[in-house]
Amino acid sequence: MKRFILFGAPGSGKGTMGELIQRDFGYAKISTGDILRAEIERGSADGLRARSFMEDGGLVPDELVIELVRQRLERGDLDGGYVMDGYPRTLVQAEALTAVPSESERAIFLEVSEAEAIRRLQARLTCRECGAIYHRENKPPRQAGVCDVCGGAVEPRADDAAAAVRRRFRVYARRTLPVIRYYEHRQVLARVDGNGTAASVYERIRELIS
Ligand code: AP5
Repeated sequence: MKRFILFGAPGSGKGTMGELIQRDFGYAKISTGDILRAEIERGSADGLRARSFMEDGGLVPDELVIELVRQRLERGDLDGGYVMDGYPRTLVQAEALTAVPSESERAIFLEVSEAEAIRRLQARLTCRECGAIYHRENKPPRQAGVCDVCGGAVEPRADDAAAAVRRRFRVYARRTLPVIRYYEHRQVLARVDGNGTAASVYERIRELIS
């Protein structure tokens, strides 16, 4: 089965591109952010543990995230392939993923300036139920506050508050940039210009994947 990994700073567009790849290629999208938010929403022990790390913009401990991904990969709906969004984020996670066999592996690094990514986060809205991603100006839900996909509540994410965003960028630079270099060394990394409209960025990715 094919594996794609989306890298990029907070707000670079990983989730948005993952949704489009899923729509057009039928690959499952696995977002650790969505998995963790779902755990919080249902009040599970894992969610309770993850919550404080996420709210202040830190990383959830490796062993918890690795275990949740292991459970997700075992679900048996990944025959065509899958796209990872937000995982791996540390070298320990990268090694855990490398140990999972795949027919092929491609990592895509969305390069966007920090200023642009922050502008996007300030305008982002997401669905609490299904994680669908919106933008106040570029992609508002058809009915304000209501998800087009599942009818759930659409609102800003708690960790898009300014202090948490600053911390997420620091953590990204310290913990996740080395992971991008790890994939560069494995010669599976493609850098994609993540600036421009979502449609134009997606076109670059689509060409790469096709
Ligand atoms: P996660 O949910 O993965 O957040 P993130 O990596 O910070 O990335 P974002 O979801 O903020 O941004 P994105 O790149 O997906 O951008 P999006 O497509 O939404 O993780 C959240 C937290 O969970 C972490 O901080 C951590 O605590 C924890 N966590 C998750 N995974 C973990 C792991 N592996 N290990 C440990 N902890 C983990 O786009 C943003 C906005 O821009 C949207 O409004 C969108 O509509 C808009 N947009 C997208 N593309 C464009 C474009 N080209 N032009 C204009 N607007 C655009």
